[in-house]
Amino acid sequence: MSAAEQQDKTFYLETFGCQMNAHDSEKVVGTLVSQGYRQVPTVEEAGLVLYNTCSIRDKAEQKVFHRLADFKKLEKQGKRFGVLGCVAQQEGEKIFEKAPHVSLVCGSASYRKLPEMLLQIERAPVLTGKFDIQKRLRVTGLDDRETDECFETEFTARTNPHRGYITIIEGCDKFCSYCVVPFTRGKERSRTSDSVLAEARQMAELGYTEIQLLGQNVNSYKDAAGKRTFAELLAAVGEVRGIRRVRFTTSHPRDFGKDIIDAIDSVPALCDHVHLPVQSGSTRVLDAMQRLYTREQYLERISWMKSARRDISITSDVIVGFPGETEDDFQLTLSLLDEVEYDAVFAFKYSPRPNTPSIKMEDAIPDEEKSRRLAALLEKQREIQKRRNQKHLSEIVEVMVEGKNDARGQWMGRTSQNKTLNFVAPEGCSFESGSYVPVRVTTALPNSLVGEMVDG
Ligand code: SAH
Ligand code: SF4
Ligand code: F3S
Repeated sequence: MSAAEQQDKTFYLETFGCQMNAHDSEKVVGTLVSQGYRQVPTVEEAGLVLYNTCSIRDKAEQKVFHRLADFKKLEKQGKRFGVLGCVAQQEGEKIFEKAPHVSLVCGSASYRKLPEMLLQIERAPVLTGKFDIQKRLRVTGLDDRETDECFETEFTARTNPHRGYITIIEGCDKFCSYCVVPFTRGKERSRTSDSVLAEARQMAELGYTEIQLLGQNVNSYKDAAGKRTFAELLAAVGEVRGIRRVRFTTSHPRDFGKDIIDAIDSVPALCDHVHLPVQSGSTRVLDAMQRLYTREQYLERISWMKSARRDISITSDVIVGFPGETEDDFQLTLSLLDEVEYDAVFAFKYSPRPNTPSIKMEDAIPDEEKSRRLAALLEKQREIQKRRNQKHLSEIVEVMVEGKNDARGQWMGRTSQNKTLNFVAPEGCSFESGSYVPVRVTTALPNSLVGEMVDG
């Protein structure tokens, strides 16, 4: 068989960005496989090379252009290149100018049309000559996402057989001043809670025990049929027979109601974890970011979690060096970290992004100063996590097994609080991924726990 024939209908897909993108890639794989394509693990083996991209920070966006430049010479072998996801939606046809060897640019609202687009690509002759640029095939799927309520593809190829994602709401209407998401993912559109529950039941029948509900602002969910609130949907998914763990991400503080905590308190399958990004501890900066809440309102939501019956772990995202952030503002973020005592924080240096209102504000804080603030914040958070994790010592917790680290002789598990708990088990014990095991915590590290399996 010739190399070209071997590459026939093979694709390579690399995914960047958030969990919504990871799940979108499962939809892309499902769609391509339904069209007779086969996924291969390297660019070299593939006929079609796809990147599902992220545009949240400049560094994320640059990754795809580096990849495209690295593999440009492979175009001569007849490979086709496609850019999917948020950079595709944001840059659109400009991508063809920056990387002329790309033949497909497709945003997340158009994945259902991939079969037609693939047909066009397959039928077109391969033109790689210097003067053929104008004649090359250029396929775009850049649907306007204003009215589209159905963002599911017909097929989804989930990568993990025990733990799976369900997108319940797409897009974002919040327009924080620094953020590209409302431009790359469009307006908020929610599915009906009945369709979400049908998918959850179907997954349970297939053997899934953990479901993660997804949305850029998952708790801004508004049932397209008006039947259930977000908290009611959460509870209903937690009550599906066979589902043992339900997670949801990301929550927006403005739309975070106490009913979510009440649901966690009353439905055992809902995990003890809330990711509630604060971005800054200074109300003045929150205002400039257009986050729609104050420090005090945010802390009120934290107090609901702290007074819950269950021990809820709390995690957050923070941006340092937003335009105009003073040392005093930054200190307010540090003091908020102390006050909340997060279990984990994802922190980023502010990155000016196209289309966003904050691109017009002067990005005057030097990169070294942003790096200093980031390091100081991470240092503080490390101490907090060490303290937080110490509280778990000698507790018995249930983990979902994720695999084995043979070098260390430890099994890897995840707790309901979303912490990594590596554990040892008596010789001869073996666990399948996805099984649930009771473990006693024996060591607390800043980023993980260590323990031993409890008999029985
Ligand atoms: N919808 C979620 C977050 C989605 S983006 C929310 O509102 O909290 C994930 C994280 O990336 C954000 O929480 C923020 O901390 C970070 N982020 C977004 N835009 C950024 C930018 N321009 N520069 C740096 N970090 C950014
Ligand atoms: Fe971006 Fe703000 Fe929407 Fe989150 S809420 S996705 S940060 S605009
Ligand atoms: Fe990135 Fe798009 Fe997600 S910009 S963070 S991949 S929604």
